[in-house]
Amino acid sequence: MSKPALGKAGGTARFDSRGPGETRRVGARLGRLLRPGDTVLLSGDLGAGKTVFVQGIARGMGFKGSVSSKSFVLMGEYQGREFKLYQADLYRLEAPEQAEELAMEEYCEDGVLVVEWPERAPQVFAPDSLRVRFEVSGERTRGLILEAGGPRSGELLAGLRR
Ligand SMILES: Nc1ncnc2c1ncn2[C@@H]1O[C@H](COP(=O)(O)OP(=O)(O)O)[C@@H](O)[C@H]1O
Ligand SMILES: [Mg+2]
Repeated sequence: MSKPALGKAGGTARFDSRGPGETRRVGARLGRLLRPGDTVLLSGDLGAGKTVFVQGIARGMGFKGSVSSKSFVLMGEYQGREFKLYQADLYRLEAPEQAEELAMEEYCEDGVLVVEWPERAPQVFAPDSLRVRFEVSGERTRGLILEAGGPRSGELLAGLRR
């Protein structure tokens, strides 16, 4: 894993992953920092590594079981060591308004919310979310571009850089 490069404003960072294990490891490091109320939004094509990253987050939060792709189920729930992890996959959302009915951030406030395909309902997420964009750069290489939208997500980003 290469050292993350610092973004100009300090609000972004980039990791270059050379395999699923590395992506999982960055996710696990983030998972150890996450607290109830935190939201992480994961963007990127199918197969880019979003679910692999969620597996890492779950591991970092102390969840022992397996995390699978949730494309047919909108919400998954995993019990970590201290907090719950809620995973939403909005790929099959039919209309952005559907997401408002889910009231995800309220439903998940006792835990951490991680969302795949957040662009299906961009209006429902708080600005202070940590955004991660996955770029497929080769068969086993991925660029992870992290962006903090506010003070709390900025703290998470700073923690990851350490
Ligand atoms: N560096 C990498 N990071 C993450 N996944 C990778 C990487 N290299 C190859 N892969 C493979 O890409 C696929 C990613 O799948 P998945 O995480 O389900 O994607 P998504 O949830 O974004 O649709 C897996 O088969 C994984 O083994
Ligand atoms: Mg997925």
